Amino acid sequence: MSRKRQPAEPYRIKSIEQIKLLSRDQRLKRIREAKFNTFKLDASDVYIDLLTDSGTTAMSNKQWAAIMMGDESYAGSDSFKRFKKTVNEIFCKKFLIPCHQGRAAENLLFSVLVSEGSYVLNNTHFDTTRANTLLKKALAVDFPSPESFTNQDYRFKGNMDNQRLESFISEKGAEKISLVITTVTNNSVGGQPVSMSNIKETSAICKKYNIPFYFDCARFAENCYFIKTEEPGYEDMSIISIANEMFDLCDGVMMSAKKDGLVNTGGFITLDDEKLYQRLTELLIVIEGFSTYGGLAGRDIDALAVGLTEVIDFDYLDFRIDQIRYFGELMKESGMPIVEPIGGHAVFVDAGQLLPHIPDHQFPGQALAVALYVEGGVRTVELGSLMFGGTDPNTGQKFTARRELVRLALPRRVYTNSHIQYIAETAKTIFDQKEKLTGFEIKKQSAFLRHFTCELGILSKKEAATTV
Ligand code: F0G
Repeated sequence: MSRKRQPAEPYRIKSIEQIKLLSRDQRLKRIREAKFNTFKLDASDVYIDLLTDSGTTAMSNKQWAAIMMGDESYAGSDSFKRFKKTVNEIFCKKFLIPCHQGRAAENLLFSVLVSEGSYVLNNTHFDTTRANTLLKKALAVDFPSPESFTNQDYRFKGNMDNQRLESFISEKGAEKISLVITTVTNNSVGGQPVSMSNIKETSAICKKYNIPFYFDCARFAENCYFIKTEEPGYEDMSIISIANEMFDLCDGVMMSAKKDGLVNTGGFITLDDEKLYQRLTELLIVIEGFSTYGGLAGRDIDALAVGLTEVIDFDYLDFRIDQIRYFGELMKESGMPIVEPIGGHAVFVDAGQLLPHIPDHQFPGQALAVALYVEGGVRTVELGSLMFGGTDPNTGQKFTARRELVRLALPRRVYTNSHIQYIAETAKTIFDQKEKLTGFEIKKQSAFLRHFTCELGILSKKEAATTV
């Protein structure tokens, strides 16, 4: 099938939000004041914000209308009934626990299912799933597919390495494993999808060893789209039937609805086990809210119920994934080395490859993230040694990340193709003078998740050459 060169939005704009491009001098001043950390920039100083695709969605007219239908009753609201019906149609589980976002769902589920000293296994943990596992004094182990870190042109790079998963389970003993999770799409390896056949294998392993199998399904609809369009045998199935087949293979689901829920906040757990549901509900009432609202307003719940029906619409997904592909291709044309195949929610630039003169410990990803802001007011996030590197507290040894990436995450239904062309032009300007970029050093940092708050200093050419 020949693809359109430039995809067209399957919606039109009814309400707009003004954005402003500061002058280059102002941007330089702002990034210096932010200590070269893009998290410390004021959003109003950003022209195009690609920091995350989470909670940044533009809602539809139907969602805004649903907000007016929100039933704010403390218990048993109509909003919850509508939400439950929609979740049941897609995820096919008996019980539903609403919560305010994904990490609250993780905290709840892990509080009940994860025991101290046990293991949680995942294709790749997202930062908060990893942190919540560690908070329960358990160990988070990843089994990304061997293809995920290669340049191989393999479509389902988000897959679980089921061979390694099973050997690990048989080596440690099934009783030591609290939970197996498949994250769809696999955010930490580039928003890469997981195939249905891979999910089936993981599910069979979990059944064989009697281990609970859950999904972290923040981007489930994007994953279903890849299954439909790229996995043989699924081309004639609807997105909802693919979702039904996928969720039939697991014991439960936790979801950050801030992505494929097409809302600005929300999350949930849905599962079949009644006893577990009761234990989770007891905890939910203590930490999030009553069982029919769980930290959300009735209007949030109604917007989410509508968002979940819109996200499984094929035309929406076809445009969404095509727009990311278009974005990736323009970035490639600008000279940027990107992670391929292009994933579902972001373009990842390999800054290590782009800037070989900046060593990993001088954060080439941060150099690119800062340059994107200075050159074009574009905010992105480094996913390299600033985020994943550090010092081992036991050995004192410094370690760096596997790859020095920068994530350009595209919010849903927010930016048009001309914004994307503008970003690619900014990237080209940087590419043409990439030798001029220098590295950074950390001036101040916290013990955990340092990238959110650290302060950086720019290294001059001379300094960069003398630091080790
Ligand atoms: N799981 C995955 C795969 C995620 O990507 C995220 C959030 C969460 C769980 C946590 O959900 O934010 O609602 O508490 N990812 C965002 C990102 C923050 O930028 O990738 P949350």
